[in-house]
Amino acid sequence: MLVDHPALCDHWYVVAEGADLAGGPIPVGLLGRAYVVWRAPSGEVVAAPDRCPHRESPLSLGTVTGGCLICPYHGWTFGDAGRCVEVPSSGPGRPVPPAAHLPVIHAQERYGLVWLCPGTPVGTIPTITAENDRAYRRINSGVDRWATSATRMTDNFLDISHFPYVHAGTFGIEANREVPKIELEQLDDDFYGYRYEVEVGNEKGATASGQVGAVVHRRMTTGFHLPFTVLSTIHYETGLDHLILLCSTPIDDVTSYFTFVIWRNDDFSVPAEEVIAFDRAIGAEDKAMLERVGGVLPLDQTATVSVQSDKPSVEWRRRLAALLAG
Ligand code: FES
Ligand SMILES: [Fe+2]
Repeated sequence: MLVDHPALCDHWYVVAEGADLAGGPIPVGLLGRAYVVWRAPSGEVVAAPDRCPHRESPLSLGTVTGGCLICPYHGWTFGDAGRCVEVPSSGPGRPVPPAAHLPVIHAQERYGLVWLCPGTPVGTIPTITAENDRAYRRINSGVDRWATSATRMTDNFLDISHFPYVHAGTFGIEANREVPKIELEQLDDDFYGYRYEVEVGNEKGATASGQVGAVVHRRMTTGFHLPFTVLSTIHYETGLDHLILLCSTPIDDVTSYFTFVIWRNDDFSVPAEEVIAFDRAIGAEDKAMLERVGGVLPLDQTATVSVQSDKPSVEWRRRLAALLAG
């Protein structure tokens, strides 16, 4: 099982958006385990195994009152950092058993996303400098669930040779069939990948590109941050930048969360949902393809055939295999 590799536990994964916590605790799956996530009295996001230490009720079925998570079974109450602050049956003010505190895991909120690390953080959450640039706005898209492996998703997001086939309904055109020679480089502190230029279909993408015309020119970068994060940056000739962070999280080997985040330096006039409708349609095309493939992408490179256009994915797989080997 891919998700049983202990080294994966030491990295960060997106499991929700911060906005998803407004209504109370939520259940999430990560690397084959179930967790509860909620917002504590301090405002911090807290995550712990979705199991009450008392009689193992799922805590995600509970409620949050005043930031405290209340178990639905006997009302044990958990506050900041998962500390058990009340056992109602013992009466007010009585000490709680030390083992009643929840074994929380690392949780952070960044870019409107909730990131979890179940082990000891060795990996980092990648830095997106546009986040602190007032010329850019951030648009979150919600977290979806794909019936495919995070390995297949990351491979797909690094690959441009599928554009004229999978994305024929959005931006893929015949001219994209041949992929120019790819040279890999360190794109910035956090992403390794490649730069390329491409003409893409624009008939359905005018809102996203800010331009009319059947075809638009893009200067792009696409790179990965281990284990499963990809950043694509699009620079249009008008000066418009459109950045897409693509986050794939293994719930288990063949089920994953997917979310994308956009940063763009437009004039903020078009409603966010209209801006990302094109990216949503593109994501739906990838999802439909990958959900038909099945299984985990083999990390043994000899098990699949690769060509020069697969160079980014081959290098990502090589580095992922090294990470898993510890
Ligand atoms: S199972 Fe949670 S309080 Fe009893
Ligand atoms: Fe795609």
